[in-house]
Amino acid sequence: MKYYIHVFGCAMNVADAERISGAYSHKGWEKTECIEQADEIIIMTCMIRQSAEDRIGGLIKNIKTSSRIIITGCMAGMAVRDNTGKMLTRLKRKYPRVSEFLPIEDVGFSTKPIRTDKTHALVPISNGCNNYCSYCVVPFARGKEISLPYNDIISECKELVNNGYTKVTLVGQNVNSYGADLVSNKKPVYVKHLGKMRIPTLFPHLLDDICHIKGLKQLDFLSSNPWDFSDELINVIAKNSNICRLIHLPFQSGDATVLKRMNRWYTPKEYLQLIEKMRKKIPDVQFSTDIIVGFPGETNRQFEHTVDLCKKVGFLKAYISMYSDRPMTAAHKTMADNVPYGEKKRRWDMLDELINKTNLRKGTYPLYE
Ligand code: 5AD
Ligand code: SF4
Repeated sequence: MKYYIHVFGCAMNVADAERISGAYSHKGWEKTECIEQADEIIIMTCMIRQSAEDRIGGLIKNIKTSSRIIITGCMAGMAVRDNTGKMLTRLKRKYPRVSEFLPIEDVGFSTKPIRTDKTHALVPISNGCNNYCSYCVVPFARGKEISLPYNDIISECKELVNNGYTKVTLVGQNVNSYGADLVSNKKPVYVKHLGKMRIPTLFPHLLDDICHIKGLKQLDFLSSNPWDFSDELINVIAKNSNICRLIHLPFQSGDATVLKRMNRWYTPKEYLQLIEKMRKKIPDVQFSTDIIVGFPGETNRQFEHTVDLCKKVGFLKAYISMYSDRPMTAAHKTMADNVPYGEKKRRWDMLDELINKTNLRKGTYPLYE
């Protein structure tokens, strides 16, 4: 029996797909790169923006064979977590060719992955998110944050290095809040610099332990948030040169009011202070980020604050998104998606030129990819 797997979305989905491959291989199935030859087609879905959802629809429409189609990832996660059952009914009606909507937990989250890259491994350390940024569907699609067991992660990384892997990327929606739900004999780290005590995390310990695995040349992590970026974490990065100096730190908006409406718990000033602190302690650090343009009600002046922050930080790369209204989110329920598409596009183009195109011309852009 043969399976074909198509991945939409982020590094987390790629890592999950590697585990699904592991589950199929365990059953004796063979992977095919040719969709027409597959007995089962697994689609690892992303719901972060409407455009991602549209691409899934396009793929399903183009499947001409009679193979079983299984939808997993965020779309299935949302459908099964919707207690009213309405979303599942809507999806079943919209995609009658789909045989099953299975959340990732049911397809093979806990199996040993089959990795495509032989030197660089993606290692999931947590799944889900508790933060409920008002625009974001992830907490609904992936549920509450669950940290994978500490020792399992360490063992997986050791085994990878023993098998010739030299680079590891730790993945999770908020890697730096890792461990808040675990009981551990390690002293939990609380973040104090944003003015309020945050949750106890174990990420600095985890990073420190992994980067000391002999033979591991490069370690990085995706994605972190500004509010769980502790001094302890900064110190671990500063002390260990095999931890990547390009840190991905999404800020989303450079305007304090917009950030508040996004339900993100920092001000632009605090974000800049964190960047400055990191620059002092890690002299060769560089930053990439995520930005949303055209959030409901974002005025031109508020957008200019985002431009100002970008100029102050000098990001090496920005993943810029035009705001997309997502079901179930607080923004969807309470705010009007009222920035016209043309204006979102103008803001997107402006930031892309300021950050990505300029770095591309300077030759600094491809450093990481
Ligand atoms: N609209 C546009 N961009 C979004 N992102 C998350 N949700 C949305 C949305 N509703 C972006 C954020 C996040 C990245 C993964 O996707 O910038 O950091
Ligand atoms: Fe969680 Fe916010 Fe990141 Fe979405 S954008 S995954 S809600 S921290």
